[in-house]
Amino acid sequence: MMYNENEPTDIQRVSASPRGRLITFEGIDGSGKTTQIEKLSARLVQSGIPVRVLREPGGTAIGEAIRRILLDKAHTGMCMETELLLFAAARAQLVREVILPDLENGKWVICDRFLDSTAAYQGYGRQLDPDMIRSLNQLAVGGCWPDVTILLDLPVQAALARLLGRQDKQDRLDHESVAFMERTRQGYRQLAQADPDRIIVMDAAQQETELAEQIYHIIREGLGT
Ligand code: TYD
Repeated sequence: MMYNENEPTDIQRVSASPRGRLITFEGIDGSGKTTQIEKLSARLVQSGIPVRVLREPGGTAIGEAIRRILLDKAHTGMCMETELLLFAAARAQLVREVILPDLENGKWVICDRFLDSTAAYQGYGRQLDPDMIRSLNQLAVGGCWPDVTILLDLPVQAALARLLGRQDKQDRLDHESVAFMERTRQGYRQLAQADPDRIIVMDAAQQETELAEQIYHIIREGLGT
């Protein structure tokens, strides 16, 4: 669903149980996820909500070890299938070790990337079989779907301009082509079209504070407390 501040969002899934909420952020590299996650988590904490911020791949000792393998610049020979399985493996561990127990305890979990990253990057970017990716994602998350996913949508050229400023933290996955980024961006948009109740498309080119304000309202109104 494309966010429009004049229309109510359709994510009214206020649960009766004390279960927390799973909020995921998605977008191509340079779309500003990290900044927006920091702003949202700070505001939720201010409102007295227990929050945990996680990143993918990572978030557990096993996941961080997998992350190092995935991002290592020396691993130029990693095939696409290995990459896919490693992302899925890190996710399976994160869900069972951290996310599910946190949700049970009423925490709100904000995840920097989750299963849609695999669908967009490995499915559309690398063009691996989407049905196979769907099955693998299902295995990894085991029914633990996000309550809401914020997709920070930004033209590839704008994302590249932002990334130029952080040349220092380049890793193996930061060397993808513009065509790859474009396929990934379009992939995200298609995923959002297919699941408009869960995935909210936000215009990430707009001013940071305004965007943060919109996201906060979507989350509070859509997910309740
Ligand atoms: P990271 O440094 O965390 O990038 P960002 O700060 O932009 O999130 O590296 C994660 C990289 O891994 C990023 O380029 C996206 C990619 N990725 C996939 O290709 N598939 C996945 O399933 C996930 C979780 C990430």
